[in-house]
Amino acid sequence: MDTARPPIYPGLAGKTVFITGGGSGIGAAFTQTFALQGARVAFVDIADEASRTLMGQIQKETGTAPLFIPCDVRDIAALQGAIEKVRLAFGDIGVLINNAGNDDRHTLEQVTPAYWDDRISVNLRHMFFAAQAVLPQMKRLAGGAIINLGSIIWRLKQTGLPVYNASKASITGLTRVLAREFGPFSIRVNTLSPGAVWTERQIKLWYSPEFEKEVMAGQCLKTRVLPNDVANMALFLASDAAEKCTAQDFIVDAGWS
Ligand SMILES: NC(=O)c1ccc[n+]([C@@H]2O[C@H](COP(=O)([O-])OP(=O)(O)OC[C@H]3O[C@@H](n4cnc5c(N)ncnc54)[C@H](O)[C@@H]3O)[C@@H](O)[C@H]2O)c1
Repeated sequence: MDTARPPIYPGLAGKTVFITGGGSGIGAAFTQTFALQGARVAFVDIADEASRTLMGQIQKETGTAPLFIPCDVRDIAALQGAIEKVRLAFGDIGVLINNAGNDDRHTLEQVTPAYWDDRISVNLRHMFFAAQAVLPQMKRLAGGAIINLGSIIWRLKQTGLPVYNASKASITGLTRVLAREFGPFSIRVNTLSPGAVWTERQIKLWYSPEFEKEVMAGQCLKTRVLPNDVANMALFLASDAAEKCTAQDFIVDAGWS
């Protein structure tokens, strides 16, 4: 995790923030940066050890540990249950970050109907149901912000993971239609699309010196995009500073796409 301090948006202090996949990678940067705002942060994840380590780190840093609820977002009833637990613990959720995802590689030929359904349920389906579950809470708060993690991958037409690409492209459409549905209640819905972000998992599984060369050739800015760069955009989108921003795709990719 990089240690640069995030900008502070005073309006986020005390807000209930719910993050899926908040235990590692970009999600951990969300959990940490929102905790540093003084928000009441809760997250779900399947990575138990990483999530508990993160809780300890944040407890040390801020004096308060975020609430971690183990939950597989493919299980919609469990996800709805977790959202209810967070409401009971912290009050109505004002910020939802739909972040959990999985970019395991798969060839076109390997995809079966069951694999298709599984990829859609890990990368897309939970975002709809989490938004549906927080709607009554955000209505009571007379506003809210939902941030769906998209990707530039489908804009680049990257091969080797077609169902992930399809999920990520669909998120752009989901955001736009939810923004229209939720707008009358002052709930803003945006997509946040990262480029190549240097997370532990990406570095371990996919990034090589050749890939870095390709990324740097593609990016306008010849520098690595880090999880905190994405988290800083999430802070802005969740804050009052973005009060007129909805239905859009905010890209943090150093100018690659
Ligand atoms: N890292 C990148 O370069 C990049 C680029 C574009 C988009 N994204 C998107 O950003 C988001 C975060 O990506 P990341 O790189 O941090 O990924 P990551 O794999 O490092 O972290 C994802 C987190 O979600 C959790 N998770 C995965 N499946 C889950 C499930 N079924 N239930 C609950 N939690 C689950 C993981 O345990 C992990 O903590 C994803 O939506 C991803 O598609 C990432």
